[in-house]
Formats: sequence, C-alpha cells, structure tokens
Amino acid sequence: MDMENLIKKLKEDGLFRKLKTVEEVNGVKLKIDGKWLINFSSNDYLNLAFDKKVIEKNIRCIEKWPIGSGASRLVTGNFKIHEILEKEVAKIKKTEAALILSTGYMANIGIISSLIGKGDAVFSDELNHASIIDGCRLSKGKTFVYKHKNTENLEDLLKRYRSRFKTVAIVSDSVFSMDGDIAPLDKLKKLSEKYDAYLIVDDAHATGVVGYSSFEPFDITPTEKTIIMGTFGKAIGTFGAFIASTITLKEFFINKARSFIFTTALPPHIACATLHNLQILPERMKKLQKRIKFFSKITGLKSETAIFPLIVGDSKKALHLSEIIFKEGFIIPAIRPPTVPEGTARLRITLSEGHTEKDMEKLAKTLKTLI
Ligand SMILES: Cc1ncc(COP(=O)(O)O)c(C=O)c1O
Repeated sequence: MDMENLIKKLKEDGLFRKLKTVEEVNGVKLKIDGKWLINFSSNDYLNLAFDKKVIEKNIRCIEKWPIGSGASRLVTGNFKIHEILEKEVAKIKKTEAALILSTGYMANIGIISSLIGKGDAVFSDELNHASIIDGCRLSKGKTFVYKHKNTENLEDLLKRYRSRFKTVAIVSDSVFSMDGDIAPLDKLKKLSEKYDAYLIVDDAHATGVVGYSSFEPFDITPTEKTIIMGTFGKAIGTFGAFIASTITLKEFFINKARSFIFTTALPPHIACATLHNLQILPERMKKLQKRIKFFSKITGLKSETAIFPLIVGDSKKALHLSEIIFKEGFIIPAIRPPTVPEGTARLRITLSEGHTEKDMEKLAKTLKTLI
C-alpha cells in the first residue's frame, strides 16, 4: 500500500484524522494548545469522570485495590470487586447475571462472534456501532443489515430467511451513538420472540442517560434470550464494560468469548470506582434531563438523549465549522465517514450534567451565527 498517497488523499478529501492533546481538564472544561475550551463532545454525560469531588472519593479505590490485575480473569485476574460489580450491574439491568469485560468494543465482538457461528445469522441495524459491525465480521455466520430502526424491513428479512439458520440474533444500539435517537426496543423484543431470536442491545449511550437501562422507558424486562451490553466509559465516567444476561449465557461467554478470555482483566481499582459512580446516578440523571430540555428549547434542535447531531453533509465543511467553533472557545470535533455514512458529516454535540445554562447559551449563540 502506498501510504503517503493514501494519507495525501485523506487530507484532500477532508477525512484525515489527527490527535488533539488535552493538557489539563476541569469538569467540562479542557485545555488544548494552551487554550481553555468548553467540551461539548465528551461522552461523560453525567460529569463523573472529571468532577473533583468524585475523583477525591475514588482515590480511596487506589488505596484499597491494585492498579493492575496482573492476569486475565480466568487465570488469576478475577478479584472480588469484579464480582461485586457484576451483581450490581445485573441488579440495574434486571438480569440474572452480568459479566465484566475490559471494553465495550471487546464486549460486542465477544458476544456476536461467540454466539453466531457457522449456519447462524445476525440481523443488524444499518447505523449500529463499529464494534457491532466488527463483531458481525468476526462471526462465522451470515449478516443481514436492516434499514435504520425499520422493523418492517427487519420482519421482512426474518420472514424470508429465519428458517434457514439455527441460532439467530437481532442486534441494535439502544441509543444510536452518532444520532442520539432511540431504537424501537419494544418492537425489536416482540420480533425476537416471534422469530425465536436473541435480542442483543447495546446500552453504551443509554446507561445513565435514559435510565439505568434502556428497557426502563419501554417498561420491558429482559428474558432468557436478551443480552444487554454497555460500557462504563461514557455516562458512568470510568472504563470497562459489561454483558448482562442469564447465568447460562454468562457461563457461555466466559468459555467462548475470545475477547473476554485472552486479555488482561479490568484493573480492580477501576471496578471499585465504577461501583461508587453507579451509586450517584439518579440525581445527576435528573439534572442531565433538564439540560437536554433547556438546550433543545434555546437551539430548536431535537433529541431525547444527550446527543445532538448537527448534520453538515460535506466533510471539509464540517471540519471548517469545527475549527471556527474551536476559535470561539468550544471543542466539537467533526464526525466524518467512515464513522458516519457518506454525505452525513456532522458536528456531534453532546451535553453533560456539568454544563451550565450559560455554557449552553454561549454555544447556542455561536451556532446561530454560523448556521
Ligand atoms: C454504541 C457503542 N458501543 C460500544 C462502544 C465501545 O465501548 P468502549 O469505548 O468501552 O470500547 C462504543 C464507544 O465508542 C459505542 O459508542
């Protein structure tokens, strides 16, 4: 591969990616290139990652639990704190059991590649996260991609092809990461029952935003064939991930999910901090909901979650807008293909419990002059 030409082409097309260095952080404020900016692009929706009070509390975790786990969980890296956290996750997701993994990316590739083998099939929403897409690619089964949130298209595919496969799963983000919209989970659940399929739900952007679980607003409960995964790296403000399911599925993943087996266990002190943060969600979730309503009102942008996409279309234009916004004192990187479909480059604005009305008003004013 001619790498130099490839990089040149990425630059010409406005698709080149480079890292920004965060020099300091304080709540929703970041220092980059010596300049303090208001962060409107983090997934730290509840302001738990950088809140000084929360950090002070979590320092006790480092005193009590090791920094490193020293091995994979199946060897000698399984600490009591992992198991306590698993019980807590099962409780909030209303499942029999839960399994802690090192990242959400690993959870998704682990679930799909272990569950869907030769002769099986997975039905996946077209806007699912990259880790779900990669899980489908890694599995030895057939992947059907259905139109975004389109349960008629999904049922049509299930009707036509379900009987040709043994194990079948429907997989969807509950809150879509780049659009902030919510999947029709009630309908997906009914279809999974009608066609005897597993329902795999990615709660990465739902946990701590729409409730403890995306099933809460729909008033549905997990069943034997429900698998809910999520990450602690977003609203929970730490790191790591979980798979909530039945005990049998948990045992299956422990034995078969390669991204669980062949990797170092989540550091125990992080599991401890995660457990702490899970205790302080309700009050912060209420505040976040207020922020979402306020921002919708002053900008006219609509979202039921903390993610507000501002679709620009062209990648270079999105990049340019992001640079102007940076000069105005905000950080909102341009999201471009392949993260989002071709022609839908955008500014992905996210809200945090830590934003003040003043922060949001300032951004709204800047956006109005730009767009
Ligand atoms: C919908 C979704 N699923 C999974 C992941 C992966 O989670 P993690 O960052 O813990 O690997 C992400 C995060 O980027 C995500 O947005």
